[in-house]
Order: sequence, then C-alpha cells, then structure tokens
Amino acid sequence: MKKFKFLSLFLVLALVLAACSNSNSSSGEGGDSGGSNDGGEGKLDIFSWWTGAGEEDGLNALIDLFKEKHPDVDVENAAVAGGAGTNAKAVLASRMQGDDPPATFQVHGGAELNEGWVAAGKMEPLNDLYEENGWNDKFPEDLIDMVSKDGDIYSVPVDIHRGNVLWYNTKVFEENGVEVPTTFDEFFAAADKLKAAGVTPLALGDKEPWTATQIFENVLLGQLGPDDYKKLFNGELSFTDPKVKESAEIFKKMLSYINEDHSSRNWQDASQLVANGEAAMNIMGDWAKGYFVNDLDLKVKEDFGWTETPGTDGMFMIITDTFGLPKGVSNPDDVKKFLTVLGSVEGQDVFNPLKGSIPARVDADKSKYDAYGQETMEDFKDASLAPSLAHGSAAAEGFLTKVNQAVNIFVTQQNVDQFIDSLDQASAELK
Ligand code: BGC
Repeated sequence: MKKFKFLSLFLVLALVLAACSNSNSSSGEGGDSGGSNDGGEGKLDIFSWWTGAGEEDGLNALIDLFKEKHPDVDVENAAVAGGAGTNAKAVLASRMQGDDPPATFQVHGGAELNEGWVAAGKMEPLNDLYEENGWNDKFPEDLIDMVSKDGDIYSVPVDIHRGNVLWYNTKVFEENGVEVPTTFDEFFAAADKLKAAGVTPLALGDKEPWTATQIFENVLLGQLGPDDYKKLFNGELSFTDPKVKESAEIFKKMLSYINEDHSSRNWQDASQLVANGEAAMNIMGDWAKGYFVNDLDLKVKEDFGWTETPGTDGMFMIITDTFGLPKGVSNPDDVKKFLTVLGSVEGQDVFNPLKGSIPARVDADKSKYDAYGQETMEDFKDASLAPSLAHGSAAAEGFLTKVNQAVNIFVTQQNVDQFIDSLDQASAELK
C-alpha cells in the first residue's frame, strides 16, 4: 500500500514535470527521460541534480577521476537542474517507472532511499561491494544505517552535508557591530540592528519551497533537541505539541527579516545577497560554502563566516548524498566500478572539497579540506545527528511534499494555527 502510494505520487509529479525535463538537463546532453536506456549502449549515465552554480564542480572532478581509471567506460553526466532535486526526483521517477533506470542516481540516505526505492524493490543490495572494498568500518556506523534496510546495504555515501548552518557576511557584521548569534534572542537582536541600518538581515530564496522548509526544520531542531525532533517523524511526538507551535512562531518572526523578492530567488540567488553584502545572513546547507568559494571566489573566514543555526550547537542536521545500483541495468559491473571510485578515499577527496561537504569516510585526508571542512569534520565526530526532512532523510517523499506545500503557504499567509493544522494533517502520511 505504502509502496503504491509512493510510486503513484512520484508518477504524478513525473507527469507534471516530464515535459520540461529536457530543458532542465545539463548542457543539453543528459537528463533525457524518454530516450535510450543506459544498458543498450553500455553507457554509464550518472543521474543527479548537480548542474552548475556551486553544484557540479565536485561531480565533474569525480567523473574525471573515474575516466582516468576506466577510460574504456562511456560516461554520461545525466544531471537535471533544480536545488534539492526539485525536478530531478520527478524525472527519475518517470525513468524508473518506464523501466529505464539510470545506471546510478543521487539519492539521500534515510527515508528517501529506504522507504522509497528500496521498499519499492528497485535497488540491488551492495553488501558484497562493501565487503570487497573493506568499507564496513570505513564509513561511520550511523551513516551505514542510513543506507541500509533489513540488514542489507543499498548505496554508497559520497558526502556528508550539514544542514544547520547560518552563514554570514563578516564585513557586514563588523561594520554594524553585530556579534555572531547563537540563540534566537541574539539572532533577533542582531536582525533588529541590521534592519535599522538598512541591511536585509536574512536572505531567503524560496522559489523552490524546500529552502524555507530547511529554515523551519532547523528552528524545530533548536527548540526540540535531536531526540524530540526525531520523534516527530516516527509518530511519538505530535505536530500539535506546544514546542512545534513555539517553533512556528519563531519561524514567523524570522520571516519579518527576509528580502522582499524571496519568492523569485533560488538558494544560489539568496546566497548571492549575503556574498555581496545586501543581506547579512542566510541559513543553508554547506553546499553554499562550495558556491561561495568556487563560484563567487569568497575567502573562508575572511569574507564569510558560519555558525550553527540558533540553539543547535552540538547538533548536526545530516544530509548524505549517496549512489546505488538500480535493478535492471545492463552494466552493473561498470556501475560497481563507479561506486568503488566514489567510495574510495581518493574519490571522496576530489569531490568533497569542491562540493562544500565533508567526506563520508572516516579516513579521508583532512589536509585537503579548508578551515570549514576541517572544523565540520571535528564537529561531526561528537555531534548528535538529526536527519534532514527538507532533504528526504527524516521522512518519505509523500510527507515532505505536503510539508513543503504547508510551509509555502505559511510564508505568505503566516497563520500559525493553520500551519500547525496542515502539518498535523500531513503527518497521517507518516503512518
Ligand atoms: C543535496 C545537495 C545539494 C543541495 C542543493 C541537497 O538535497 O543533498 O547535494 O547541493 O540539495 O541542490
């Protein structure tokens, strides 16, 4: 039943978006949802949503490394643009439905993989690949759990992204005498000061609504702590809990400090406001660091700084991008070769410094990472992990879609009671 619901939801999304899939594919060479399958020509098509503007540098480096090691394999970058997989997930669903799976595809560890593609019987287990490569103690146990179901492992993590990061423009903070906020009281005090000085305190680009959901989930984490936050998704804590309402009130207050044109910007456009000093802060996963450094040429700690989102010190909103082996591809050996490179120290260390993330492996070469990466690797070791909802780890797609809708309405209408009601109703999807 669950499987059916999941697939039909994706099918509907796929139908809506299939028409624009071609125009969304990178450099016009990939993302064709209706064309040849990977197997016919033995092509290794790598499906993701990493296309340009801070997203694709790491992928390109990984593909180059793979080509160096396996020049005989024909690789295609089949990326479909759109932050957090906004369009890619629908195109993927349509390909999977049409028995035309990509050779391998980006999928978040957690519910998106396990309750999605694994539950639908679409993925091959990779326990043997883990054994062969000696990976079982090379990835943190918590991470292996996120890509496992019923004792089998289904994908290989390429990165660990952190979702609870508040980025700030150091010069704007300095010029306005603003301290780095660690609590909501401090955040709002800073925001008032900045607003009075004519600077937008918080940049938001919610043209794709997941960015606003990401702010809200970070408020929830800060208010509830990791244990209660997780309980929201296994039904042990209701969305009508007073602390969720309190979080909605805080979120509402934060919305009074954002840029007016938020709904016409995406996450990169919002990050730009911080980069050029029009806004002071944004809340975004650390792919924003990849964007700041690689695309906008900003210097870590000099031009921008970061801290955990208010109240989440010692916590780590975890997002992991992983790749697996779909059932029915005709070149599984080539896919395993790619996964082997992606899961190697070398693979992780060409990808992650560019992507903004930290390596998923515990034995990567720290010296290849900048100050942000090195500090985040340290933080990760002792932090309490919380799976991101906005990025598909905490709950399956059906629930996330409804939350994104509710958040989107809330950003415009700002009716707390109605918002809580929508979240509570959406939680029926979690059962
Ligand atoms: C992915 C990241 C990506 C971000 C923005 C997240 O869902 O995990 O790899 O950079 O979306 O597109």
